[in-house]
Amino acid sequence: MNISSSQISIGKLLAVLKGAAVLPLKTSSVGRLGRISGKLTLKNKGRLIVGRNVSFHAKPFPSSVTVERNAELIVGDNVFFNYGLDIGCTQSILIGSNTIIGPMVNIIDTNFHPVDMEDQSRGKSIVISDNVWVGRGAVILPGVTIGANSVIAAGSIVTRDIPSNVLAGGMPAKVIRELQITKEWIRRYN
Ligand SMILES: CC(C)(COP(=O)(O)OP(=O)(O)OC[C@H]1O[C@@H](n2cnc3c(N)ncnc32)[C@H](O)[C@@H]1OP(=O)(O)O)[C@@H](O)C(=O)NCCC(=O)NCCS
Repeated sequence: MNISSSQISIGKLLAVLKGAAVLPLKTSSVGRLGRISGKLTLKNKGRLIVGRNVSFHAKPFPSSVTVERNAELIVGDNVFFNYGLDIGCTQSILIGSNTIIGPMVNIIDTNFHPVDMEDQSRGKSIVISDNVWVGRGAVILPGVTIGANSVIAAGSIVTRDIPSNVLAGGMPAKVIRELQITKEWIRRYN
């Protein structure tokens, strides 16, 4: 038991050191105690603002975060990104504090390709509010706002706004039920 708890703390320490080495170079601003474990590809040609105590857990599968020129990705405090993350930010993505992003989640604020000749659509901003949990394998599509405290069930495709304090899921994601969450209740990931 002692060995495993010391391994855990060494792992965390290494993640803090990697975060301290990489995040200040790759972000426009970062709070303290940012952590990176595994392989995270961070491309920031715009504005990437990362809050305090944000963890990128990019193993066993790597993660990728791309912020294009003139785009802005803002991440709040105490956010956990699990492995296989893929964020493509061409306009604006806001991820609130105390949010958990599950494994293999994709968040893109543009479709990247036109649907047909008449499709003039550009990117549309995404807002993932405070205290949200996005389950494994969910896809958050352009223009979506997810309200505070809500949960997106595993494998969902979120094409439209989701209100606060609900469990939503499916393809496309719909409200499944309301959640009982008080103001003080904060999601914790470890
Ligand atoms: C949402 C979840 C947490 C289950 O929550 P729950 O409150 O126990 O929900 P239930 O299992 O009672 O299901 C409630 C309803 O939602 C539906 N539902 C549950 N998960 C769903 C999903 N992923 N997609 C679509 N519908 C889903 C159920 O079928 C059920 O529908 P019904 O009432 O018509 O039968 C779980 O299904 C899930 O998605 N977990 C994600 C885990 C994860 O990603 N972990 C990664 C670590 S961060």
